[in-house]
Amino acid sequence: MDARSILGMQAAAPAGTQASGAGNAPAPGGSLCIEARDLWFTYDGRAYVLKGVTLGVRRGAMTMVLGRSGSGKTTLLKTLKGLTRPQRGTVTVLADDRLDDRRAPAHAVAYLPQGLGLVRSLSALDNALTGALSRVGTLRSLARSFPKATLEEAKETIARLGLAHKLYEPVYRLSGGERQRVAIARALMQKPSVILADEFVSQLDPITADEILEMMRAVSREGISLLITTHETHVVARFGDRIVVMRDGGVIHDGPSGSLSEDGMVAILR
Ligand SMILES: Nc1ncnc2c1ncn2[C@@H]1O[C@H](COP(=O)(O)OP(=O)(O)OP(=O)(O)O)[C@@H](O)[C@H]1O
Ligand SMILES: [Mg+2]
Repeated sequence: MDARSILGMQAAAPAGTQASGAGNAPAPGGSLCIEARDLWFTYDGRAYVLKGVTLGVRRGAMTMVLGRSGSGKTTLLKTLKGLTRPQRGTVTVLADDRLDDRRAPAHAVAYLPQGLGLVRSLSALDNALTGALSRVGTLRSLARSFPKATLEEAKETIARLGLAHKLYEPVYRLSGGERQRVAIARALMQKPSVILADEFVSQLDPITADEILEMMRAVSREGISLLITTHETHVVARFGDRIVVMRDGGVIHDGPSGSLSEDGMVAILR
């Protein structure tokens, strides 16, 4: 599936405000949209879960973060999203000219938690619309009264993800793969620059997982940056434009696609 057909919007040429590339359409994997420097984080004030993580999320690229259970992947994503504050280090979300200036930079970053965070009793459509809450006024969002154009956009986004027939179905009646699609639709409705997705396809059969990851790749080719955590080496080898490996709270590898074989990944994870 082609990126345009998923997003239903004009290809954007996001421009960074950082020194390199301001005003230019970026090459995939070129300029940064999030820059994390020397992140240290502890939940209990004793054991550090992030130990000096430095990482750049590149525009228009699909960055896969590989790491064993407990290596700190979820904590890293929460820190990049600003849900947890590091005791030391900084996270900088670099401006993107597609963003509405009135919105906080936080809206530029969509976060798909490990459990997806959908409202089970709401329909696929209503869940997707919650992604647009930050874009409509407070009164309208309180009344859940969305402009017609936003409603149409949500329907289109869901349809393009292959779920047109389940628009009004409550999420609790959807399959795992269908829920992933609703979560993607909700993230896209936020019009983010970056999507952080935690263990996004771990629960799915390999064919559905591939289908969803192909969609995510198409989204990234549209200029939306993706950071996806996983512990599956074949997913990283197949889909990572950038490969980041975490171990025990640190980044032990950060390189382009092909910089590490699957065997190499297994070896450094051991
Ligand atoms: N809310 C919390 N309070 C205290 N410790 C926590 C909390 N959340 C995570 N931890 C600890 O931090 C470490 C890293 O957890 P994290 O969830 O970031 O790992 P992960 O790489 O995402 O693992 P998984 O692959 O199992 O999801 C673990 O040792 C975990 O026990
Ligand atoms: Mg996790």
